[in-house]
Amino acid sequence: MSRLGTETAFEVLVRARALERQGKHIVHLEIGEPDFETPANIVEAAVDALHLGYTHYGPSAGLPDLREAIADEVSKTRGVKFTPDEVVVVPGGKPIIFFTMLALVEEGDEVIYPNPGFPIYESMINFLGARAVPISLREERDFRLDVNELASLISDRTKLIIINSPQNPTGGVLTKDDIYGVSAAIGDRDIMVLSDEIYGRLLFEGEQFSISSVEGMKDRTIILDGFSKTYAMTGWRMGYGVMRADLATHIARLMTNSNSCTASFTQIAGIEAIRGDQSATEHMRLEFQKRRNVFVNGINQIKGFSCRLPKGAFYTFPNIMQTGWSSKKLADALLDEAGVAALSGAAFGAFGEGYLRFSVANSVENIQMALERIDQWTKTNL
Ligand SMILES: Cc1ncc(COP(=O)(O)O)c(C=O)c1O
Repeated sequence: MSRLGTETAFEVLVRARALERQGKHIVHLEIGEPDFETPANIVEAAVDALHLGYTHYGPSAGLPDLREAIADEVSKTRGVKFTPDEVVVVPGGKPIIFFTMLALVEEGDEVIYPNPGFPIYESMINFLGARAVPISLREERDFRLDVNELASLISDRTKLIIINSPQNPTGGVLTKDDIYGVSAAIGDRDIMVLSDEIYGRLLFEGEQFSISSVEGMKDRTIILDGFSKTYAMTGWRMGYGVMRADLATHIARLMTNSNSCTASFTQIAGIEAIRGDQSATEHMRLEFQKRRNVFVNGINQIKGFSCRLPKGAFYTFPNIMQTGWSSKKLADALLDEAGVAALSGAAFGAFGEGYLRFSVANSVENIQMALERIDQWTKTNL
């Protein structure tokens, strides 16, 4: 258990809530979830499903109609044909990380993962007794991995490579060339890729390109996607993995052993999410883009901070090295003294030191309030 890591966002949220209980006002820019409500058509579909009796166990791999809807959607968006038996529905995107690693990674294997990156990757690699091999994402490359560096990290022990685009915490987006480069670096070696595409619909610039679309890569890719971010459904707990049918069978068996199945009525709502009106998702995307612009323009005018324009997701990752403060110390001070909750870049891995992550999943007014507070704080303290 001592090898298992955590996700700091939840801890900072608890601390921020404790400060609120003491009467302090906090602007929440720490947690990674849309501040919008789940679209009404999806909520209605869930309510109807409850009345219709979708309150029982279902198949471990997911309801057939939802698996079919996902297979259709993923085939359309990735431009490769997927069938329902290649889809497993699970409670959130996270279990796909957990289950695919349990299924694929043995003690002593090496797993290459983005750093800074979603902390659960490193946590799970360490938990399984595998060797965590970080690939650094550098600001000067707009936080896109360097494929030559990736090639140099691949060894005979490499079992899995994790990529994530658009990326948490940097908002970086891999280009089509980068993705081809990753595939070329792998060559014909027996290495699987976990492609975390959970922010795929939250893209502001560039194009979303999945490694599963590269010739020869479909069978070596596990696509992680879900409903949390795209449809503002973080609390519903529903996501999915798309992978070779033989691997999908194993992942479904892990579901049988852990959750039995994903909640049935939420899956009916998931069909509506995928097949129904998509305008709420587009509205959210445009709102996040607007807020990103407000935040990045504002933070770049504050002493000690400099921030690139992220191309996707709803995160910004300003460089704070000029402040002379460590990431953790600065994040703590901003929370305690300025009432702005953000995350230390180091919470996303060693290469995140020197940065903070601010989520822009909050209103323009609150973002402006946060910027004013940070500005005031730096004028007094730096
Ligand atoms: C990169 C990445 N992958 C996966 C997840 C997990 O999503 P879910 O809440 O659906 O489990 C998150 C959530 O923050 C994420 O940022």
